[in-house]
Amino acid sequence: MTTEVQNLFDQVSQMQAQVEQYPVSNNDDLERFRIEFIGTKGKVKDLLAAIKDVPNTEKKAYGQTVNALKQVAEERYATLKEQFESNQTTKGPDFDLTMPGDAVRIGSRHPLNLVRNQIIEIFKRIGYVVAEGPEVEDDWHNFTALNFPPDHPARDMQDTFFVQKNPDIALRTHTSSVQVRVMERQKPPIRAIFPGRVFRNETISARSHCYFHQVEGLYIDKNVSFADLKQTLYHFAQEMFGPETKIKLRPSYFPFTEPSAELDVTCFICGGEGCPVCKYSGWVEILGCGMVDPAVLANCGIDPEEYSGFAFGMGIDRITMLRYQIKDIRLMSENDVRFLGQFKAAF
Ligand code: DAH
Repeated sequence: MTTEVQNLFDQVSQMQAQVEQYPVSNNDDLERFRIEFIGTKGKVKDLLAAIKDVPNTEKKAYGQTVNALKQVAEERYATLKEQFESNQTTKGPDFDLTMPGDAVRIGSRHPLNLVRNQIIEIFKRIGYVVAEGPEVEDDWHNFTALNFPPDHPARDMQDTFFVQKNPDIALRTHTSSVQVRVMERQKPPIRAIFPGRVFRNETISARSHCYFHQVEGLYIDKNVSFADLKQTLYHFAQEMFGPETKIKLRPSYFPFTEPSAELDVTCFICGGEGCPVCKYSGWVEILGCGMVDPAVLANCGIDPEEYSGFAFGMGIDRITMLRYQIKDIRLMSENDVRFLGQFKAAF
């Protein structure tokens, strides 16, 4: 054997050692291994190509030795590849599960809805059902059936959004319109509340907006008296603002109730001692109420000789602003999450 040929055989056995010892601990190493030894430009190919320099007598032996080397390299590659693939499935995906994830932003209820839902819950527990009416209303349901005389100032263009060219249609100015719709449809006994949005042609400022929210209540049955009204509202005030709450009814006037009153509750911020929220009076005004005027019952097809009842209406925005000490009503409709996100924990 010539020294050149001997040299080639030596190279093959050195290469075998390299193939066996090449450090492979991950997929990238394995790919490097493949390129270096068994790829189309790999070292084993070079050794195979060198067969042309080997004399015929040695060709067979040399070919077998290089092929054996090739087999060792391919087997090591296949074994490692299988090992990494099975590791991958047992180890899970190729990313770091301990990395902190993207934060999920959880929304919160609008403060107006928190207060509205609480009002609804309180009345539901004493047998009231919830009803709704349209926001675009006709004159009959918003004014006439409720005993507003034709020249009442609430009908002025300054107060009410009328639909152009049709003075009979307006955006409802209060949820009292739903009283009329329910009484027209349903025979007493009626025990219902009507939450909803109302509209008034007001200059928008920190204290008033062209739309806001009310909850109206109505109770019609035989022998309903002012004592029932007072006790119902007392119960509501204690549930809503706490068991220490006291109430005060002040005489007032609404076209659709007789007698009419305004309900004050002891300030739920200071407990009646006096603070900026109650303007140091100890009381805050919460709602209007009264005994449904017999003329209104008659307008809705209910016999005032047989039935009587009471009604009340409160502004949700006002109660919400007092409760959370929100100084500007415009925040309610600006959709600013920095404002809205503050009410998560409450109620
Ligand atoms: N509708 C009145 C308003 O918007 C509130 C109101 C007062 C409703 C007295 C009533 C009531 O049902 O009896 O100011």
